[in-house]
Amino acid sequence: MGAQQAHLIVLGNEKGGSGKSTTAVHIAVALAHDGARVGVVDLDARQRTVARYLENRAAFARKRELALVQPEVAVIADDAEGAAPGAPRADTTALAERLAAWAGLDFVVVDTPGRNSALARAALARADTLVTPMNDSFVDFDLIGQVDPETYKVRRPSFFAEMVWDARKARGRADGGTVDWVVLRNRLSSLEARNMKRVGGALDELAKRVGFRVAPGLSERVIYRELFPRGLTLLDMAALEEVSVSHVAARAELRALIAALALPAAVRAAA
Ligand SMILES: Nc1ncnc2c1ncn2[C@@H]1O[C@H](COP(=O)(O)OP(=O)(O)O)[C@@H](O)[C@H]1O
Ligand SMILES: [Mg+2]
Repeated sequence: MGAQQAHLIVLGNEKGGSGKSTTAVHIAVALAHDGARVGVVDLDARQRTVARYLENRAAFARKRELALVQPEVAVIADDAEGAAPGAPRADTTALAERLAAWAGLDFVVVDTPGRNSALARAALARADTLVTPMNDSFVDFDLIGQVDPETYKVRRPSFFAEMVWDARKARGRADGGTVDWVVLRNRLSSLEARNMKRVGGALDELAKRVGFRVAPGLSERVIYRELFPRGLTLLDMAALEEVSVSHVAARAELRALIAALALPAAVRAAA
């Protein structure tokens, strides 16, 4: 392995609709805005949300003649099912090759589909930072930990936490590296104070047991859904036609999210 490696940020959570793809795009564009060289790998070749988002972005920039920062994008599909066990895998090989090709970038952001696959596990095992967005719901929480129905105390970690544990072991064996796991509380709504407190308490307890940090994610805002056709993020304010107070608040929230990830210094000296 080369001395220089991009810092790998993997969005993972075996749950669709938790905000992985939306968060992946926003993290990638925010880092690129800060001058970092960023590549994005979309492992959800079926939905291609991140790839399509960034394709829309490039098309919109061309059409309007805007100078928008454009992270590089690659899409890697899972191998077809039914291959003989132990047979060489095209998908995990393609991921390794892509990461090797992008070793000179500052960051690579990997978006994964909401399911367990060899490809997703391979990405997890290479992660430097694992970001798990979670809606504030015990339905989402259940994939990380199970809670007692009476007390809401954590009974035991669930399968996604076990998968991360395995990935951490694999990473330790491979190069002695560690994974900083950050669970993002996404789409928080102040209207649900009691549930928010219960989920928060359970998360704090589980965080100590399985080793993750908890940080605020993106709050529930229509703007996050509206920006997709143009491929914009809240940091492309100049390209947005109207800038409201809510946009400014949302941008501050995105900045806070990036700060909470505590990533290594972004910009390297130009080679
Ligand atoms: N902070 C947010 N506020 C409002 N809508 C959101 C937010 N984050 C995601 N969404 C919407 O929720 C849906 C699922 O988000 P997505 O990022 O595709 O999740 P995942 O990749 O985990 O399946 C999409 O319709 C997306 O636009
Ligand atoms: Mg997705």
